[in-house]
Amino acid sequence: MAADDIKQQIRQLLVERNAVLLAHNYMRDEVQEIADITGDSLALSMEAAKTDADVIVFCGVHFMAESAAILSPDKQVLLPRPDAGCPMADMVTVEGLEALKREHPGVPVVTYVNSSAEVKAHSDICCTSANATSVVRSLTDSTLIFVPDRNLGRYVAGQVPDKKFIFWEGYCPTHERMTVEAVLQKKAAHPDALFICHPESAPAVTALADHACSTSGMYDYCRKSSAKKFIVGTEAGILYKLRQENPDKEFILASPALICPNMKLTSLEDVLHSLQTMTPVVRVPEDVRVKAKAALDRMLAVPR
Ligand code: 13P
Ligand code: SF4
Repeated sequence: MAADDIKQQIRQLLVERNAVLLAHNYMRDEVQEIADITGDSLALSMEAAKTDADVIVFCGVHFMAESAAILSPDKQVLLPRPDAGCPMADMVTVEGLEALKREHPGVPVVTYVNSSAEVKAHSDICCTSANATSVVRSLTDSTLIFVPDRNLGRYVAGQVPDKKFIFWEGYCPTHERMTVEAVLQKKAAHPDALFICHPESAPAVTALADHACSTSGMYDYCRKSSAKKFIVGTEAGILYKLRQENPDKEFILASPALICPNMKLTSLEDVLHSLQTMTPVVRVPEDVRVKAKAALDRMLAVPR
């Protein structure tokens, strides 16, 4: 079937099912193009919490669809590719987290949304890359456990030096593939460009950045900046909207390794199939959901 026919059928089914199509900023270009809303993890979880659609079709990875299911229990959440996971989210388990909590009794746990519902349920508060610093600052405690991203954790620790962090050594394999050498080479080739990167990057890479922020933060920054050239240190899917929104500016991917295989799985065919069959549904057991929601709600209550 031609791509235009698939898109038309998707749009029609979205109306028939009273469904909303959410897509993360790393999705394939054609999926971002037909989405009702694109955004970073924070924007999409807020959208999932407030939408009045009956069905949420989540084009992203599993933990994002789970967050939508946690926040909107009365809605059906579809994840067109159930095999789209996040290796970083899989790096922390409830057993491991509980063992760390036993080593540090009474210390609050801040959990990056790139984590399972079960891990969120064993946490005090969640954060995304867009609000992690505000979330940590909102705590009255002077020590905290930060899971699972060691890179985001260390970045936030640099922003909030008065607090002591206990890190979990998880990481995003996609961002960690961006090396200092690759960035320096791009900087040398484009000395007039600004370097922006995601705080999931290795600390030595983030240290080279003119600005580190979430994916949506990058849209704001590039839109407002008077610079004309940017070296972009995050997953390649971000380039689609950056180029669309800024036709007069140039965007160079910092490393060809910045492709997340999981974020690239979802095709238009998968979205159509999902809407036709109303599967695969993402569900979270109620006892886990209620506890995980408390951690997400605490995050959503923190002013940015
Ligand atoms: P944000 O869109 O929240 O910046 O997240 C990046 C990411 O890696 C999601 O998996
Ligand atoms: Fe997970 Fe990294 Fe892929 Fe995001 S880009 S889904 S953190 S592996």
